Amino acid sequence: MSERRRVAVLVSGAGSNLAALIAAAAAPNHPAVVVLVVSNRRDCGALAIAAQHGIATLSLPVVDFGNDAAARDRAMVDALRAARVDLVVCAGYNRVLSDQVLTAYPNAILNVHPSLLPAFAGGMHAVEDALAAGVTITGCTVHLLAAGAVDAGPIVLQAAVPVEEGDDAETLCSRIHAQEWRILPQAVELWASGRLHVRDGRVQIAPAPQVAGRAH
Ligand code: GRF
Repeated sequence: MSERRRVAVLVSGAGSNLAALIAAAAAPNHPAVVVLVVSNRRDCGALAIAAQHGIATLSLPVVDFGNDAAARDRAMVDALRAARVDLVVCAGYNRVLSDQVLTAYPNAILNVHPSLLPAFAGGMHAVEDALAAGVTITGCTVHLLAAGAVDAGPIVLQAAVPVEEGDDAETLCSRIHAQEWRILPQAVELWASGRLHVRDGRVQIAPAPQVAGRAH
């Protein structure tokens, strides 16, 4: 098998998506490995999950950089490069990445957002906003991050989640999460196996290679 692609995961929260990525990467012949978890927080569930799995962690609170987010992001790029990271995954990272990070990893930063983008972009309340709007279907999106836009960039995968009678943010969020745990690892696997290509701002997914010996 060719060398596994090295993944850094950026986190701020509970880390359920990080846990899904780590579990997926444990499968035999998986093309990616999580080598670094970076947070803007000193403590969060995701950092604890990384530590439990023996994965290197790095906390970069902006206060440590005189509240200069660009300086923090320069330190992040240095750390990503030092760890020879190929792919960055934002999995519940609650800060906007500066252009320094985005230009350092062109078409190599995935983000998961709890809505069917472009609906309910640009905020931390996509699930609440979907409920308030009265939509009957929402979901989640994995997309590549592009410079100069928040919750925008070529869409890789989406999953629809119907809104049910009596849903509140918690119940709807938990069903959206279950879909995120499926499509985020799937997107990482597609990227790491070289099957994601961006043409004219849109993602194309190459077919899976034929497995030798199956054609009998
Ligand atoms: C996810 O719902 C993701 O879409 C949003 O933040 C949440 C992170 O959850 N950006 P977790 O920390 O992975 O549990």
